[in-house]
Amino acid sequence: MTAPEPDRASAAQAFYSRWAPGYDRLATHAPGVRRLRTALVDVLDPAPGDTVVDIGCGTGATLPYLRDRVGSEGTVVGVDFAPGALIRARARIDRAGWENVIVCRGDGTRLPLRDADAVAASFLMGMLPDPAAAVENWLSTLDPDRIALLDLARSYRLPGRVINPLFRLAVRASSPPGTAAHHGESPTGVLDRRVAAAHRTMLGACAETNHETRLGGFVYLSAGRR
Ligand SMILES: C[S@@+](CC[C@H](N)C(=O)[O-])C[C@H]1O[C@@H](n2cnc3c(N)ncnc32)[C@H](O)[C@@H]1O
Repeated sequence: MTAPEPDRASAAQAFYSRWAPGYDRLATHAPGVRRLRTALVDVLDPAPGDTVVDIGCGTGATLPYLRDRVGSEGTVVGVDFAPGALIRARARIDRAGWENVIVCRGDGTRLPLRDADAVAASFLMGMLPDPAAAVENWLSTLDPDRIALLDLARSYRLPGRVINPLFRLAVRASSPPGTAAHHGESPTGVLDRRVAAAHRTMLGACAETNHETRLGGFVYLSAGRR
């Protein structure tokens, strides 16, 4: 598996640490985002008592939805490599008083964990240099029964397709500094390619699958049961 390129990985960690407060507001309150997180957890379908890992958990915006489903007997573990994002995630956990939700610093491509009932990743796959290998690694090391991915990428259907140029600008503007140029490929091209590879790999490795697009085709939601 390709590990994150060091410069890009440290630029992304610095970016998500520095902008964690603003990102947290967006991740929690942006129009439609709550519905997307609910949809992610619905298709993942964790049961009470399950152990669920949220890879690239950021400021922890999906943690409450997962905690709701696993209840007080289950466990939710968030992993992220940006210390500033984890500070926000820990504050969220402390505010809620959850004793069975923890977050730890780690590289999502080399997980410091073993065994989970379910794995979720939201808005992460476009940041991983080799997302297909990352998904394969999660399936082999965590051996989950269920996995779900939620991502943004370019829309291939109308009416969303018409506003792809705006989407491209937004992707460029929100790329961590120094990470936009990528061997001549546009940031949106990289994002599309990575999201497609991750979802394809996950869907191909699972027996029962579910794939849908939302919000004009910009949101890709895939889930599988093994
Ligand atoms: C766009 S944010 C999404 C955060 C969260 N999943 C959400 O839905 O709001 C992407 C997150 O992935 C983290 N990330 C990116 N690459 C990572 C890696 N290789 N290992 C761990 N975390 C990573 C970043 O630090 C950032 O917090």
